[in-house]
Amino acid sequence: MAETSSITPQNSTISHVGIIMDGNGRWAVDRGLSRSAGHIQGAKAVKDIISAASHFGLKILTLYAFSTENWNRPKYEVAVLMRLFKSELHKQTAELIHKNVKVRFIGSRARLPKTLVQTMNQLEANTAHNTGLTLQLAINYGGRQDLLEAFKKLAHDVEATKLKPEDITVSDISDALSTGGISDPDLIIRTSGELRLSNFLLWQAAYSEFAFVDKHWPSFNPEDFVDVIENATNRTRRFGGL
Ligand code: FPP
Repeated sequence: MAETSSITPQNSTISHVGIIMDGNGRWAVDRGLSRSAGHIQGAKAVKDIISAASHFGLKILTLYAFSTENWNRPKYEVAVLMRLFKSELHKQTAELIHKNVKVRFIGSRARLPKTLVQTMNQLEANTAHNTGLTLQLAINYGGRQDLLEAFKKLAHDVEATKLKPEDITVSDISDALSTGGISDPDLIIRTSGELRLSNFLLWQAAYSEFAFVDKHWPSFNPEDFVDVIENATNRTRRFGGL
């Protein structure tokens, strides 16, 4: 249980956790509520898990908030989510600064509402010098798109004769991704019982541990979070070796 956990940031092998926050819709439908109500409750869980991660001393938390495929949802739901992202980022700014959280966004900003992008830019600038938890929010993010952009960057470098194709390394690809400079996730959690990666951090997940939790995202609480980290810490990671 979380209260009796012996895992601390010092003895945990987990420093970067990625979360696929799934099940807002099902949580709401189970209660006879609208899907929007599920997303609003999901935002509350986001706040609690960020606090828990910061309190735990985790180094990096990456939350998958909106995938490149989520544009295929009904227009109304996409609009609700975009408004919710903006209002939550505003609401949580003071606390994120107070908690020394450094926020960065991954994903393409091109298709996002201008006012949301302004809020995102401001939050990144206002927390840029913070030294606590790094919070990466993936909005309009897709792992394949991330790789595609990285390959284009490297192709341009080759075209400009800054790089030879035969000299391209695994690190060059890692550095060219939107997560360049950030360590790979040690653990990826997906709520709601689905056993899929859904285009999340495809390259970066090469050696991640996985935890699939049966609860829907709005019901996932800090105690569950610490339990999952504790469980993953006790597993042995061999990175392909013996
Ligand atoms: C997946 O559940 C959830 C999303 C696509 C949206 C995630 C958004 C939040 C948690 C809200 C706030 C986030 C931030 C960063 C402030 P689903 O709708 O796919 O659930 P379902 O599979 O049960 O339909």
